[in-house]
Amino acid sequence: MRNYWYPIAYSGEVAERPVPFTLLDEPKVLFRDDRGQVGCLIDRCPHRSTPLSLGRVVQGRLECPNHGWRYRADGGCTKIPSQSPEKAIPKSAAAQSFPTREHLGIVWVWPGDGFASAESAEAGDLFQIPEFGTPEWTYVQSSFDLNIEHELLIESFLDPTHLPFVHDGRLGGSRDEAAPVALELLPYSRGIRGNFTSSTSAGESKPFQLLTFEPPCHVRLEVEIRPGWRAFSVISCVPTRASKMRALVRNFRNFMLNEGSQDWAMLRQVQEAFAQDLAIIQGQRARLGPDGSPWQGCAVATDGLALQYRNWLTKSLAHPNERIAMTRAAEA
Ligand code: FES
Ligand SMILES: [Fe+2]
Repeated sequence: MRNYWYPIAYSGEVAERPVPFTLLDEPKVLFRDDRGQVGCLIDRCPHRSTPLSLGRVVQGRLECPNHGWRYRADGGCTKIPSQSPEKAIPKSAAAQSFPTREHLGIVWVWPGDGFASAESAEAGDLFQIPEFGTPEWTYVQSSFDLNIEHELLIESFLDPTHLPFVHDGRLGGSRDEAAPVALELLPYSRGIRGNFTSSTSAGESKPFQLLTFEPPCHVRLEVEIRPGWRAFSVISCVPTRASKMRALVRNFRNFMLNEGSQDWAMLRQVQEAFAQDLAIIQGQRARLGPDGSPWQGCAVATDGLALQYRNWLTKSLAHPNERIAMTRAAEA
């Protein structure tokens, strides 16, 4: 789980003040230096463990609030005010730093084992949204800090058969009209993808959702609202600390591009849907098995995508420094 790029915050959220966050149980801090570059350091001063995020950015350096030591984005200490400038700064006075990128209007951090592997993983490894920034599409964005295990939310997204029940009458049909659903697994080189179709009362099949998961934590779900009107959502479920996560959510549409009322309607719908999902997930997490999993061995065909994710997660948690390939359920 460590050797991936993780989205942390929208670019506009990282300005002149340090931004603290936790990723995979480690406290870190983002700040923007005088060239506009975003740095990420461990949120712990190498001098005496003060959270650097309590400090401020001065002349492009992050200044510890305790004794004023200053750090560059690469973690190097540039100033120790209590000692004469002639005196060398000890090598040990360096804060651990992490690679960052700005991509898709988001700050990404690589928490894994070093810059070399982040550089080597650069090509094509950052999550992509081909529609981002094109004139045919617009989007709204939001973020949520939630007290749940991130995998439970990912599994919920990867299974649209909950829609007519949990979101009765709001998204994907109503409880009384819930119809059989078929899942076709599609080839996808960067992760897993499944096309869900549902049956009409006449027994024909109609598109329901196209769902994609890409490691370590990204879900893309696509629907066609009516011919030509397409919408998709990208949700990154970032594991922050034990039983906590942050969701970065973007909802794209290729219709009603300049209508602010549609933006608000979308954001309201997202909030409402999250509240409904959370009520269910809070219940599930009170019943997890000793392995932390909600699965009890009686999955059905439409669980295929979520189960593949669970298999990948189990292997990834057992080997946190490895990048585990995603496999089809049949091969797992
Ligand atoms: S604890 Fe940070 S400068 Fe002393
Ligand atoms: Fe849901």
